[in-house]
Amino acid sequence: MTLTFLLNGEEIQVEPPSSTTTLLDFLRETRGLTGTKEGCNEGDCGACTVMVQDGTTTQALNACILFLPQLHGKSITTVEGLAAPDGTLHPVQQAMITHHGSQCGFCTPGFVMSMATAHTNGDTDHADQLAGNLCRCTGYAPILRAAKACEDAPVPPHLTATPFIFSEILRGEVEDRGAAPPSIKPAPSLNHPTSADDLAAAYAKQPDATLIAGATDVGLWVTKSLRDLDPVIFLEGCADLKQISETDSAFTFGAMVDLNRTRKALEPHYPSLGEMLRRFASQQVRNAATLGGNIANGSPIGDSPPPLIALGATLTLRHGDRRRQIPLQDFFLDYGKQDRAPGEFVETITVPKQADSLRVYKLSKRFDQDISAVLGAFNITVQDQIITDARIAFGGMAGIPKRAAHVEQALIGQPWSQASIQAAKPAFAQDFAPLSDMRASSEYRLATAQNMLERAFADLSNPPKPGHSTSVLEVHP
Ligand SMILES: Cc1cc2nc3c(=O)[nH]c(=O)nc-3n(C[C@H](O)[C@H](O)[C@H](O)COP(=O)(O)OP(=O)(O)OC[C@H]3O[C@@H](n4cnc5c(N)ncnc54)[C@H](O)[C@@H]3O)c2cc1C
Ligand code: FES
Ligand code: FES
Repeated sequence: MTLTFLLNGEEIQVEPPSSTTTLLDFLRETRGLTGTKEGCNEGDCGACTVMVQDGTTTQALNACILFLPQLHGKSITTVEGLAAPDGTLHPVQQAMITHHGSQCGFCTPGFVMSMATAHTNGDTDHADQLAGNLCRCTGYAPILRAAKACEDAPVPPHLTATPFIFSEILRGEVEDRGAAPPSIKPAPSLNHPTSADDLAAAYAKQPDATLIAGATDVGLWVTKSLRDLDPVIFLEGCADLKQISETDSAFTFGAMVDLNRTRKALEPHYPSLGEMLRRFASQQVRNAATLGGNIANGSPIGDSPPPLIALGATLTLRHGDRRRQIPLQDFFLDYGKQDRAPGEFVETITVPKQADSLRVYKLSKRFDQDISAVLGAFNITVQDQIITDARIAFGGMAGIPKRAAHVEQALIGQPWSQASIQAAKPAFAQDFAPLSDMRASSEYRLATAQNMLERAFADLSNPPKPGHSTSVLEVHP
């Protein structure tokens, strides 16, 4: 497949040497654009951050774990293309100079690309926006001051008009208006389906193919494990899998909805889940990572399954034209084993709406951009001071995301009291025999899970009063 995209405003057509050539390798080795740095090559440091626009959104993404076919029809801006064509620095570049935001400078291109993206989007939560960029020299205060200083500066025109017209023309949505006219329209192919129907047909024909959604897991199989993944099927072009629909009783997410959009949809309804998703990886990773990928990878430490299990979420799995619905909790069978047949994929995830009594706690060594050691999700219903229902699920406590069935049974029917919480704690040892690994010991995990139950009791017993949203139990950077 010939790929067409804009690179710093110039139309590029390319036959990628392999379906898993990364954008970072292409920029540095084929185009000589070495301003985009390689630090970790696994999505952790942000040195390779670029701005990607698709006609609707402007996103910061890590080029090291982004495959070229994911970029068809999009506009990429690297640090070399950030200044205006006449050489005028972007406001964030100038602010970094004025506020002394750079010393060795290795991290700086990645920082300015994240800052320019946030600036384009009008995002002013700078600490969150920059949580995926690592700097070892400057310290973050001057960088955050630089980001703040240019909040009100206008967005330079070269970052707005052209990319959007380009994407619209490429998708055939508008006539070529003579600006940056691309000559190729997306050519649907077996490995680049453009709808869930196409994907279903392609995957049924090639059930041994590796599906690639956001590539934030799969990317590392290539950059770190040096695996050859062919055949692959990219889901990026399946626009219908990026839809979110909402009824009075539920949200339904297409499998390709990214984690930032998932957070935006669920946070107003389930603030504690939204807060956990704020700490899921980093801005760059959440922009790429999909909800479907976070479930389908079957990881025992994936952050979204425990809260979604606690809420009673269901999956729609699809093989060819056949669909089946299963509760999310039944999808995880054993470590590395899910209830998914060859050629079957996750099509949608449905999250029921209910009165919010969900509390989600993520314990990790670092506050931002870290994998959970333990993640606990508590959905406890209390009526007339009696616990009438409890759905409690954990990540990091077993080989799969798993409900704490014995703890739930110990709680249901009991008074909502500290004594009931204490009495339920021993049941954790019946539900879980966690591993010791580099993130936490078995004993620590068990003690932490018990303490999380106590915290849920404290939080649910003392919800913040209207106008007093500060909770002493929460940590904010
Ligand atoms: C720096 C960094 C930080 C991270 N931090 C976190 C974190 O805090 N919490 C966390 O939970 N995870 C974290 N991750 C892991 C990763 O971001 C998530 O698991 C993410 O949700 C995977 O989604 P994806 O779209 O990138 O999946 P991909 O990498 O594209 O795919 C993952 C797996 O799912 C399969 N797959 C994808 N979509 C489908 C589908 N629709 N149907 C069937 N199979 C499918 C793929 O074939 C593959 O096996 C982190 C990763 C990185 C690189
Ligand atoms: S090189 Fe570190 S995130 Fe890409
Ligand atoms: S200036 Fe050296 S790593 Fe940031």
